[in-house]
Amino acid sequence: MFTIILILILAYLIGSIPSGLIIGKTFYNTDIREHGSKNLGGTNTFRTLGIKAGLIVTSMDILKGTLATLLPVMFGAENIHPLLPGVIAVIGHMYPVFARFKGGKAVATSGGILLGFSPLLFGIILIVFFLTLYLTKYVSLSSMITSFISIIYVLAFQIEQWGLLIVVTVLFIFICYRHRANIKRIMNKTEPKIKWL
Ligand code: G3P
Repeated sequence: MFTIILILILAYLIGSIPSGLIIGKTFYNTDIREHGSKNLGGTNTFRTLGIKAGLIVTSMDILKGTLATLLPVMFGAENIHPLLPGVIAVIGHMYPVFARFKGGKAVATSGGILLGFSPLLFGIILIVFFLTLYLTKYVSLSSMITSFISIIYVLAFQIEQWGLLIVVTVLFIFICYRHRANIKRIMNKTEPKIKWL
């Protein structure tokens, strides 16, 4: 029981690491929460600080999810489903204790969970994400569509993995909830489109 609680606390703390804040403030003297969409995530880092910072922050956010998913193996706690600490890390990413509970929109860290649990599914959602981004030019919409496609994929090909099905559904709900403002902007046609794809 102690190990389970320790793993879940560690997962939350890992998820809470505010990558965008650390990279922005340390190397660019910029708080990305005061710029662009004001979101503490990879997309807003790309938007505010450029490609290098964006790639670093997105990678760090992905790794948070992956690391959390690997915690049960690291602690030899096979009785915990690896996706559980992953989901807790996503909650930490959205509501980080180290950044006054104002974090990101769950996308990269959710991807990191899938990378740790099912690299094949991660590869598929990466392709779906860039394809959708190419077609729509909206990062937010692509994030939501990709998350939805992950549910369809699990329903179609990995239905026996009920834990995975529950988790991708929960992540989809998290992602849509955190993109409320983006959904409104997409409907008002004021959501910014990317220009580089
Ligand atoms: O990863 C979050 C992305 O889907 C949207 O970010 O900054 O455009 O609200 P942003």
